[in-house]
Amino acid sequence: MGISQNNFSDKEVNPLKNLEEWEEDLLQRYPDPDSIATAKKTEEYRVYDESTKDHVREFYRINHIYQTYAFVQEKRNNYLKFDKKEMPIWDAFQFLNQLVDDSDPDTDLDQFQHLLQTSEAIRRDGHPDWMVLVGLMHDMGKVLCLFGEPQWAVVGDTFPVGCAFSDKIVYSEFFKDNPDFTNPAYNTRLGVYEKGCGLRNVTMSWGHDEYVYHMLKGRIPEGGLYMLRYHSFYSWHREGQYDYLLDDHDREMLKWVELFNPYDLYSKNPEPQIGISYDLIMKSLLPNTCRQH
Ligand SMILES: [Fe+2]
Ligand SMILES: [Fe+2]
Repeated sequence: MGISQNNFSDKEVNPLKNLEEWEEDLLQRYPDPDSIATAKKTEEYRVYDESTKDHVREFYRINHIYQTYAFVQEKRNNYLKFDKKEMPIWDAFQFLNQLVDDSDPDTDLDQFQHLLQTSEAIRRDGHPDWMVLVGLMHDMGKVLCLFGEPQWAVVGDTFPVGCAFSDKIVYSEFFKDNPDFTNPAYNTRLGVYEKGCGLRNVTMSWGHDEYVYHMLKGRIPEGGLYMLRYHSFYSWHREGQYDYLLDDHDREMLKWVELFNPYDLYSKNPEPQIGISYDLIMKSLLPNTCRQH
């Protein structure tokens, strides 16, 4: 049973066959010939087919209609109290792994493998331990799905709410059916914000990025927090939008978000990752990293 207060139909809750369809779509949108993944055999990857495209389109249609300023406030009030569950970190990884869809023969790597591959790729390149930890934790917010949240309130590109939607956001044409689109309080360029107010004062659409950011806030360096909080904010870090909301600190931090993104997108490898340093995890993670009370 879910915790979500909203009543959406099954089709609206799960427009994607599984969460990976969103990530496959990102790879179509932002392909990179110099993949970070090693021993990669392209033919081993899943084929991105037309049905995935349709699912992703429908996923964004619903996302863009329902992610309103009011919706996000409700989710923040509900989830940022962190009163849903408390568990040690290994249990949290196992909990997250329930997201594997056993009925899908194509899904051969679980959520934990993606986290391991991302963090190991970061480690291989000699980045600091805190960034390896970011790789390991960055999608932990997807546990929201297990709390009954619809897929489109967990994954997908994120974007500011409370001001006009950028037309560089994927499938931006669907925003016309979002109630905020015609609300004069929210549909101007700045909306509820002041010019140059800084992203810390901007409310982002609700999803796993914001949730994991709050989970780890105060525990890792600022650059890592930006990686967590904005890794799905593609209209900013890939498309250069929303400059008028940024302050100098955001512009300075952008380099960290850009540094992290290729590890997230291109470290996927069909071979499971087995070389993770157990010691590193145990030393790096505070015992209550995933504490929710
Ligand atoms: Fe993510
Ligand atoms: Fe990821």
